[in-house]
Amino acid sequence: MKINCRRVLMITVVGLLVFTGSPLRAQTDKMVIDNAKVSGRKTRPAVTFPHNKHVEVDLSCKDCHHIYENGKNILDESKLEEGNQDIRCSACHGPTFRINLEEAFHNQCMGCHTKAQKEKKKTGPRFCGECHIKK
Ligand code: HEC
Ligand code: HEC
Ligand code: HEC
Ligand code: HEC
Repeated sequence: MKINCRRVLMITVVGLLVFTGSPLRAQTDKMVIDNAKVSGRKTRPAVTFPHNKHVEVDLSCKDCHHIYENGKNILDESKLEEGNQDIRCSACHGPTFRINLEEAFHNQCMGCHTKAQKEKKKTGPRFCGECHIKK
């Protein structure tokens, strides 16, 4: 009897872990992007990125997250889990990479916002102070 109870409890716990650990729940509402430790310098205030809002506007994970192989984005979306350091932009866009970390963020964030602006769609900020907000 005791063992059965434990087993039930264990299944519940595992179930909860699987549930809360699923990619779609792993997103924080307001993500603060601050790579001060990686870049070793910080000239602008950290950027608050409303991650969920972006998913809600019908963007797919792979519009932003990628692993390229022969020019194709082969990212396995189940790897998009909170705490996975390999999906951090800084994991690949280091100082020696052709597109460094600052360029990676700027090209992706501003590139899309500018494109949407040109297409007269709802968009996000394009000016320095709107993303790097002074506290
Ligand atoms: C759409 C949002 C957005 C806009 C607009 C934007 N940035 Fe950034 N910027 C970011 C993000 C995100 C990072 C990465 C921050 C980090 O990792 O700490 C970043 C990083 C930087 C960095 C390197 C990190 C640091 O603090 O030294 C600099 C410098 C910078 N931005 C300057 C600018 C300037 C100048 C402008 C205007 C021409 C600008 N940014 C506009 C989002 C933006
Ligand atoms: C508009 C671009 C964009 C879209 C769309 C997007 N993400 Fe992200 N995501 C980011 C950025 C930028 C980061 C921050 C990466 C960093 O700090 O290096 C991030 C971080 C994450 C993290 C890491 C959280 C942490 O702190 O450990 C997870 C998990 C994640 N995204 C999952 C997803 C999933 C799942 C989807 C699709 C449902 C998705 N993302 C769609 C841009 C996006
Ligand atoms: C697994 C390694 C890896 C990770 C993680 C990664 N990138 Fe990249 N990224 C690449 C490679 C490789 C390229 C292609 C470079 C080339 O064309 O030579 C690239 C290209 C880009 C480009 C150019 C346009 C495009 O999409 O092809 C941007 C912008 C960019 N990355 C931003 C980001 C951002 C922002 C993040 C975090 C959300 C990120 N990258 C995470 C490896 C990575
Ligand atoms: C592929 C397209 C795309 C990318 C990449 C993208 N955005 Fe956006 N962003 C949008 C769209 C579309 C909206 C408008 C959403 C809305 O108002 O419903 C938006 C809105 C925003 C807003 C305003 C949200 C609000 O509450 O009004 C902020 C802040 C923002 N983005 C920051 C960023 C940052 C920082 C990055 C890069 C880390 C980024 N975005 C990358 C498409 C994008």
